[in-house]
Amino acid sequence: MNILEVKNLTKVYGEKEGNQHTALNNLSFTMEKGEFVAIMGASGSGKSTLLNAVSTLDVPTSGEIKIGGKSIANLSGRKLSDFRAKEIGFIFQEFNLLENLTVRENIALPLSLQNVKAANIKEAVDRVALILDIADLLDKYPEQLSGGQKQRTAAARALVHNPAIILGDEPTGALDSKNAHSMLDAMTEMNVNQGVSILMVTHDAMSASYANRLLLIKDGQVYKELNKGQNESNETFYQDILNVVAQLGQD
Ligand SMILES: Nc1ncnc2c1ncn2[C@@H]1O[C@H](COP(=O)(O)OP(=O)(O)OP(=O)(O)O)[C@@H](O)[C@H]1O
Ligand SMILES: [Mg+2]
Repeated sequence: MNILEVKNLTKVYGEKEGNQHTALNNLSFTMEKGEFVAIMGASGSGKSTLLNAVSTLDVPTSGEIKIGGKSIANLSGRKLSDFRAKEIGFIFQEFNLLENLTVRENIALPLSLQNVKAANIKEAVDRVALILDIADLLDKYPEQLSGGQKQRTAAARALVHNPAIILGDEPTGALDSKNAHSMLDAMTEMNVNQGVSILMVTHDAMSASYANRLLLIKDGQVYKELNKGQNESNETFYQDILNVVAQLGQD
């Protein structure tokens, strides 16, 4: 089953002729349920524009996006915000944690907003906190955490409500290498053991090597696709990625 279908997606910024910029140009791809897909491409190639459209935060100029078989263009207002809250988890580069809430309260937000029962919220928060190795930080406030711990808290919040898909725009962008690896390990764990589908934008080949598949975006289109082999290690996939990225620079 396809968790995500993006068909002929086009996004043109700017109203006036001459002032317009085509950020996405008839871009299409699909993603199967349970896949971990990375997106790379030069600065300005349209990666964030794509993610913002898929996340329903921005409206494309034309084309179609289906999540779990449902076309998101048909949703608006309350229906759209409910759909977003239920089906999508976001991890952004800025952690967007609320400073006056504890780690536990921050992680619980997607569920509190859906009026889930307190006992069920506690159970769900404890479960994701274990996966992300922050179980002993739940009563702290964001300012008391390291960058990596903040990022894992944001990841826990993205996961707590069992979304159909997790979207990450440079989720490791603000982390040092050690914390980036532990974040990517946690995402891999969610993907492999919880079956969560992940779509992640990154500029970093090392981060992309954790995914099963890489889409390279150029000029608002999918320029190249690279699959990790069945038994291929992250290390050799990383080498493959470096090779196609070098190629991309030459074309
Ligand atoms: N709100 C906007 N108004 C006008 N142009 C925009 C807007 N947002 C993005 N663009 C343009 O669209 C293109 C794609 O931008 P986008 O943010 O998707 O790139 P990106 O691939 O995410 O780049 P980066 O790696 O630097 O984050 C760029 O040329 C950018 O200048
Ligand atoms: Mg971007």
